[in-house]
Amino acid sequence: MTQHHPEVQVVILAAGEGTRMRSNKPKVLHPVLGRPMLEYVLHGVENLKPMSIAVVIGHGAGHVREKIGQPRGLEWVVQEEQLGTAHAVLQCEKVGKAARDVLIVCGDTPLLKSETLTNLIASQQATGSAISLLSAELDDPHGYGRILRGDDGCCLGIVEEKDASTEQRRIREINSGIYCVRRDVLFDMLHRIENNNAQGEYYLPDIIPLALQEGLEVQVTQVDDASEISGINDRAQLAAVEAVMQRQIIYDWQMKGVTIEHPETVRIEATVRIGMDTVIQAGCYLIASTHIGDECRVGPYAVLVDAWLDDRVDVFAFTHIHGANVGSNTNVGPFARLRPGAELDEEARIGNFVEVKNSVIGRGSKVNHLTYIGDTVMGEKCNIGAGTITCNYDGANKHQTRIGDKVFIGSDTKLIAPVEVGDDATIGAGSIISKDVKAGGLTLSARPEQRHVPTWQRPSKKPD
Ligand code: UD1
Ligand code: MG
Repeated sequence: MTQHHPEVQVVILAAGEGTRMRSNKPKVLHPVLGRPMLEYVLHGVENLKPMSIAVVIGHGAGHVREKIGQPRGLEWVVQEEQLGTAHAVLQCEKVGKAARDVLIVCGDTPLLKSETLTNLIASQQATGSAISLLSAELDDPHGYGRILRGDDGCCLGIVEEKDASTEQRRIREINSGIYCVRRDVLFDMLHRIENNNAQGEYYLPDIIPLALQEGLEVQVTQVDDASEISGINDRAQLAAVEAVMQRQIIYDWQMKGVTIEHPETVRIEATVRIGMDTVIQAGCYLIASTHIGDECRVGPYAVLVDAWLDDRVDVFAFTHIHGANVGSNTNVGPFARLRPGAELDEEARIGNFVEVKNSVIGRGSKVNHLTYIGDTVMGEKCNIGAGTITCNYDGANKHQTRIGDKVFIGSDTKLIAPVEVGDDATIGAGSIISKDVKAGGLTLSARPEQRHVPTWQRPSKKPD
């Protein structure tokens, strides 16, 4: 359970360039399972209900603001030049002045849990410390600041990788970059920090020796699960964090009644919703705002992007659905493609090698084989034969095809839009339809004459 913390101001550091990502995009906007990494951190601190949240931005500030928007209680603080983490926090001196404590987190740690932050704040307040920080023991501490401890085990300070001696680099206890600091102490110390170090930067961890000199209490708490504080600095770390998050998301859906076969092969983004008793088979990609109802079966190897599936939908192997709505009790695929604006009413059937774009397929209608339906409104209980094509594009404009209820279209028919087919119409196989089709009866275009050549002999292979 997280508590409310009206006495705490949160500072999120997100101004750095993220050089190690080698990207034109600001680091904190890189998506982790479909959501910018900064959004996770924001969500985590919003749960604490703090006095205010200041996000320090600099590199790509405009992009960051545009992407994240303006959530309530959030203040953007611009750090014009990125002179180091201490300099970044110093830019927040004018906000949240009434706070007792400042909670400092980085925008690049999306696995961080609200509970961990609540515990840090609680222990800072219970022990009366001036600074509380989270550390972790890592097998590979490379790149992180190391915690220096005295003979009595007390924290003496932090040394950055680039400033550390060979012996100090062997220390496996690292600084998470997550601190809770008494506000009056923080800004007093920040003004005194210097930048005479390997990177010529103002280091936030340098508040620790300054506080100790003043006789103030500094407390270091190790997190139980080190993966929670993993910072993303490059794309390999991005992939590692994504893998941890993916396992958590899959576990959460399993606990909510979703069967996931071969879970190590699927991608389910953080933004996806799945109903009870649904089965997700191997190799599926469930992306962006995809919603899947109850008792569906998806896969194997289906890709769903911004797809909406009602209940009891079967999506068979190798189907691609993007920006489409699929009604309940429908079947789609295998090898089908639903593109943006495709809408399937209940009990519709879309079969193999069928593409549907910006079209309504009415209740119970079947489009089972090798067909293109674009810019079409189709009524109920139609049967569309194999190889039917709605010719919707004249090279400049898109035109609509309207098909009534209970229409039967023979195989290999071309419907040249704009065109309308009346209720109960039947169209003969191989027809080219360029004029409206009357309701009922049979409509067919002229067929080439069928000939028989009795004298013709099929070539035969020479015997070996
Ligand atoms: C920092 C810590 C290190 C810790 C590690 C944990 C310092 C000096 N080092 O190193 O002890 O182990 O985090 O992940 O603090 N930022 C700004 N403005 C700046 C510089 C950085 O806003 O001028 C932001 C970055 O966008 C990032 C965060 O601060 O979100 C941390 O910066 P980063 O460059 O990732 O620091 P690390 O080298 O990881
Ligand atoms: Mg970092």
